[in-house]
Amino acid sequence: MHKNKFTIAILLGMSSLALGCNGSAEQSKPTLKAPEQLTLKAQFKEHFKIGTAISRDQILGALPEDLNVAKAQFNTFTPENSMKWERIHPELETYDFEAADALVQYAQENNQELVGHTLVWHSQTPDWVFEDEQGEPLTRDALLMRMQNHINAVAGRYKNRIFAWDVVNEALNEDGTLRESKWSTIIGDDFIEYAFKYAKQAAPNAKLYYNDYNLYKPEKRAGAIALIKNLQSKGIEIDGIGMQAHYSLDNPELSLMEDSIVAYAATGIDVMITELDISVLPFPEGEEQGADISLDIALQERFNPYPNGLPSEVNTQLGERYKAVFDILKKHDDKVSRVTFWGISDARTWRNDWPMQGRTDYPLLIDRELKLKSFVSDL
Ligand code: XIL
Repeated sequence: MHKNKFTIAILLGMSSLALGCNGSAEQSKPTLKAPEQLTLKAQFKEHFKIGTAISRDQILGALPEDLNVAKAQFNTFTPENSMKWERIHPELETYDFEAADALVQYAQENNQELVGHTLVWHSQTPDWVFEDEQGEPLTRDALLMRMQNHINAVAGRYKNRIFAWDVVNEALNEDGTLRESKWSTIIGDDFIEYAFKYAKQAAPNAKLYYNDYNLYKPEKRAGAIALIKNLQSKGIEIDGIGMQAHYSLDNPELSLMEDSIVAYAATGIDVMITELDISVLPFPEGEEQGADISLDIALQERFNPYPNGLPSEVNTQLGERYKAVFDILKKHDDKVSRVTFWGISDARTWRNDWPMQGRTDYPLLIDRELKLKSFVSDL
């Protein structure tokens, strides 16, 4: 159906050209859009919400063109970094709400749904969070109190103004066991339960999500399902699971992604793709593809093959890969409520710097000139 619209729009464009710019054909069919006016949010409207991560610079006005594109193309936003603990609560008594407040206000003014990211995570969380004034590890009770105070301050501040929260991020290992972190070591495995309970108290109307990478993997899937069922069995609200989806041209095997979507939906909660990007660059052998942000491999030229532009055959491959992903997501649009890309355009994607800093990647649907890529209309 979208393809038909596209074809009609081209034909209409041609006929209005033939008629000259005052041609009446254009005016008599005002609902038909020229291809350059197609938007992602319109294209996927019948299937799921479509979103992007927004950076501090973008929301604070340093990149107005990016923000215009974000507003035009997407209907849900996630802060890329601005609500992470180290940014929003850098010191015990210091909160920095500048970027977060601006994003909440912008989203409200423009009718965009906002997903807060993230309340409890082992990364991008300062060391002081886990220590007392002497630098000694906090007790379980003291860390629980610190967690609750943080959640109250942040989730409570935006209560009723944020649609949903990624309450806990990346608590699982690749084999599905619970990750060892300062949260799990000091508090115990039930830190996840407390995070969800505190979030519910602070923002009773927000949807509450668990978010992680590599959730396509069968072992990690089993761990995530156990995590969901544990919360459910204790009557603790969890409304959805976010599959980050930092992918590449050959990883993962998409049938695994599909199996995971089906399995998560069977627990009765929403399934979302929360950080989609598909790198076209070679991934260093032997390293875990996923999204462990602490991975920082020294730059080597052979891992940066397209610094001056993407060869058209690789762009075609990327389009085919995206089509395969979106075919599955559309097939399961009764289960998948949102698909969020991790960034607006290739110019400012974190994939240019992860897992190796300073590369030129092309992982998104919008190119460096802020134009939709040619294959988007086929998705
Ligand atoms: C990334 C940001 O995009 C980078 O700017 C930052 O330097 C590191 O974090 N999983 C997540 C996201 O949940 O928060 C991460 O975002 C990417 C991996």
